[in-house]
Amino acid sequence: KLPPVITIDGPSGSGKGTIARLLADKLNFSLLDSGALYRLTALSALNREVDLTDEATLTEIAANLDIRFDLRDGEVSALLEGQDVSRDIRMERVSMAASKVAAMPGVRAALLQRQRDFRQAPGLVADGRDMGTTVFPDAPVKIFLTASAEERARRRSEQLREKGVSVSLRDLLEDIRARDARDMNRATSPLAPAEDAVELDSTGVDIDGVLQIVLQLVRDRI
Ligand code: C5P
Repeated sequence: KLPPVITIDGPSGSGKGTIARLLADKLNFSLLDSGALYRLTALSALNREVDLTDEATLTEIAANLDIRFDLRDGEVSALLEGQDVSRDIRMERVSMAASKVAAMPGVRAALLQRQRDFRQAPGLVADGRDMGTTVFPDAPVKIFLTASAEERARRRSEQLREKGVSVSLRDLLEDIRARDARDMNRATSPLAPAEDAVELDSTGVDIDGVLQIVLQLVRDRI
């Protein structure tokens, strides 16, 4: 029998990354941040100055990505060709490029098995856009986490401010809407709740509130 998977899908800024990390920690499960794989593919493409519409080359990059995730002091760092690029992959231009490369069926196919390989005992928490629909359709617990675009832009602006970066809320909101539209309207694995997913709206709810709801689902189903 395969180890259980908890999938957490939703748009950027819904809090799924934070929930996934806390949950994995609490249950001692492995963690898959699938967005990081698309971000690493995008960063590698940008570094090589590859045209972001060249699907064949982007697919090749995704298939041959030399990456590793390291857990240090409770923080996951992402290594690309041995270099720590944890900060680089969070830059706004990489976010935008990631959502472009993620729309390509070839890129998604190249990353599919790599994502499934994260499924190890005693279990896995996987966050992304299509964890419950495409990558782990048999997961016993599926969450679809949302929040209003305004709330997500506010959260993002706070995160950036903590890092000393100031960006206008209007620009962030525009970015978020553009990425949402691209993620929801693409033909391959669009952002959508799985039929058997539990939908949670985190607007105005604190992280611990969401975590408690998810933990109850885990207790009921795993
Ligand atoms: O979750 P995160 O914002 O890090 O993901 C970056 C981009 O990767 C998203 O905008 C989305 O287009 C893409 N992505 C995806 N499928 C996933 C995870 C991320 O298409 N499972």
